[in-house]
Amino acid sequence: MNSPAQPGGPPMLKISGLTKRFGGVAAMSDVTLDFAAGTLSAVIGPNGAGKSTFFNLISGAIRPDAGQVVFKGEDITGLNRAAIVRRGIGRAFQVASFFPSMTVEENLMAGIAAHRSQWSDLNHRFPRQGVRARALEVAEMLGLQDKAAVLSANLSHGDQKLLDIALALALEPSLLLLDEPTAGMGPEERWQMIEKVQRLWQQQNLTLIFIEHDMDIVFGISSSIRVLCYGRVLAEGTPDEIRANPAVIEAYLGTPVEEDAA
Ligand SMILES: Nc1ncnc2c1ncn2[C@@H]1O[C@H](COP(=O)(O)OP(=O)(O)OP(=O)(O)O)[C@@H](O)[C@H]1O
Ligand SMILES: [Mg+2]
Repeated sequence: MNSPAQPGGPPMLKISGLTKRFGGVAAMSDVTLDFAAGTLSAVIGPNGAGKSTFFNLISGAIRPDAGQVVFKGEDITGLNRAAIVRRGIGRAFQVASFFPSMTVEENLMAGIAAHRSQWSDLNHRFPRQGVRARALEVAEMLGLQDKAAVLSANLSHGDQKLLDIALALALEPSLLLLDEPTAGMGPEERWQMIEKVQRLWQQQNLTLIFIEHDMDIVFGISSSIRVLCYGRVLAEGTPDEIRANPAVIEAYLGTPVEEDAA
């Protein structure tokens, strides 16, 4: 059986002993996980398991009480969000986050301009593509090019989720964290979203970690799966390993997932 791909060298993202309490709630307890470069990994688990907290800790939205986040060999624990974005970690939210009173293009331009102004000293390393050109390029990557002039508040739910991903991608991440990209979507729309996500992962050479509750999607596209439960790692492995793991079946999956049920 294949173990999660570890193509050459140390893991891109190395999490050790990550711990976070909110008052009496242990949202994350001593979580240790590695993610290899170039992989497409899922993080699953019951509601309240700590999945979004895990992304919040990696992306600098909140600080851990203990533990370490090492990205490309650098300890980034406790750095602020902007510093973490600058190092190449992008993140889309469970509830899409953007300026509703701005158009798609304006949202993207604002994100790109803010990002570039923060690291003007490093700008010479990158081609000086215009902010608007970059915004339109990113809109096109997500299939939003025809909606560039649409007010973001007026987008469909699915397009708002796409805009949120576009905002993360606009900042040129090498690691992209997607928190429930298909939340609130019907079955058909979900698969359209996931096909876009898979295409981005391949075309942009990303390392991608996504949180997802739809097990057909999780088992259908992931190269490896991490299962959280009560803030701890319950299991990690390939889809086959997770599918057959008695602790995961008991805590989360319920009945075993059918292979090729379609
Ligand atoms: N900012 C916060 N303040 C207080 N408690 C929080 C905060 N963020 C998360 N929690 C608590 O930490 C626990 C884990 O929450 P988290 O949002 O990470 O779960 P999740 O796995 O993403 O769940 P879901 O599948 O419902 O999105 C929950 O008990 C939640 O109430
Ligand atoms: Mg969540």
